[in-house]
Amino acid sequence: MGKRNKITVVGAGNVGATAAHWIASKELADVVLVDVVEGVPQGKALDLAQAAPVEGFDVRMTGATNDYAETKDSDIVIITAGLPRKPGMSRDDLLKTNAGIVTTVVEEIVKYSPDSILIIVSNPLDAMAQVAFKRSGFPKHRVIGMAGVLDSARMRCFLAEALNVSVENVTAFVLGGHGDTMVPLPRYSTCAGIPVTELLPKETVDAIVKRTANGGAEIVGLLKTGSAYYAPSAAAVEMAEAILKDKKKILPCAAYLEGEYGVQGLYVGVPCKLGARGLEQIIEINLTTEERIALQKSAASVQELINVLGI
Ligand code: NAI
Ligand code: 2OP
Repeated sequence: MGKRNKITVVGAGNVGATAAHWIASKELADVVLVDVVEGVPQGKALDLAQAAPVEGFDVRMTGATNDYAETKDSDIVIITAGLPRKPGMSRDDLLKTNAGIVTTVVEEIVKYSPDSILIIVSNPLDAMAQVAFKRSGFPKHRVIGMAGVLDSARMRCFLAEALNVSVENVTAFVLGGHGDTMVPLPRYSTCAGIPVTELLPKETVDAIVKRTANGGAEIVGLLKTGSAYYAPSAAAVEMAEAILKDKKKILPCAAYLEGEYGVQGLYVGVPCKLGARGLEQIIEINLTTEERIALQKSAASVQELINVLGI
C-alpha cells in the first residue's frame, strides 16, 4: 500500500495558503498549514477542504497554530513565515526579525520531521535559507531556497510575450541571489531550443533582463499592500513536486555552495537537480567573464546579510 505524502506549509499568509491550494489541486500531498495567528491556518485549511468535493481533489487539509505535533513526519516543509517590512523598520531589522522567525520554525520542524526536506521561501531568501541550514543541522541537500524558479518564470513570461509564442516554448535561466543583483542569463534562455539572443533585438532582451530583476518590486508597486504570491507559491510547489515524484528536474534554486562557481559557504541561486533526495546535484555551466563577475557581485550582497546575522 502506498504511503500518502505529507507537506507542511508554515505561514498561512498569501504565499503559504496559495501553495496549499496548488498542492491540493495537483493532489500532491496531504497538507498541514501552520501559522502564529490563531484560527487562520485552521480556517483556510477548512475552506480548502470544502473545495475538495467540488474540484475533486483527494487530500487531507488541516491547520494548526504554534502546535507542530500535527506536522509530524512531513516529507517536505515549505517555510513562508515572515513579517513584511513595516514603516520605520530598517532592512537589517527585518533581516534579524525574519531570521528569528525562521529559527523558531526550523527548531520545531526538526523535532517532529527530522528527515524532511525544507524549501525556504521567506525573505531575504538566500540569507533565510542559510539560517534554516545552520539552525536545522540538516545536510545541505535537504535545505533548498526558492527564488530562481520564480525569477526565471517571470523572465519566461516576458520573453513569451515579446516573441508572441506559448510560454511552454520558452525556458530561461536566472542565477545569483534573489534581489536587485540577480543574474538573468539570456544566452541560456531559449524558445523551442533557439537562444532568445538570436530571436530578439538586444534592446528587447536588455529590457526583459531589467524587468525580471525588478519583478518583485513591479508587483509590490501595483498591489501596494503586499507582494506577489501566485507565481511564488506555484514555484515552491514545482520544487516540491520534483522532489516527491523523484523527477530529477533541473531548476534554478538557492543552494549551499562549497566552491561551485567560486563561491564558498553561502546560499546562492544556481541550477540544481531536484529528486527524491532533495538537491541531488549542482550543475555548473560555463559563464562568460562578465556573467561570472555579476554572479560574484550577487554572492557578495548575500554575504553582507550573512555578516550582519553573524552566522
Ligand atoms: P504574508 O504576510 O501574507 O504571510 C506571512 C505569514 O507568516 C503570516 O500569516 C504570519 O502570521 C506568518 N508568521 C509570522 N511569524 C510566524 C511564525 N513564527 N510561525 C508561523 N507563521 C508565522 O506574506 P506572504 O506574502 O505570504 O510572504 C511570505 C514570505 O515569503 C515573505 O517573507 C515574503 O517576502 C517571502 N516571499 C519570497 C519569495 C521568493 O521568491 N523567495 C516570493 C514571494 C514572497
Ligand atoms: C518577489 O520577488 C517579494 O521576493 C518577492 O515577488
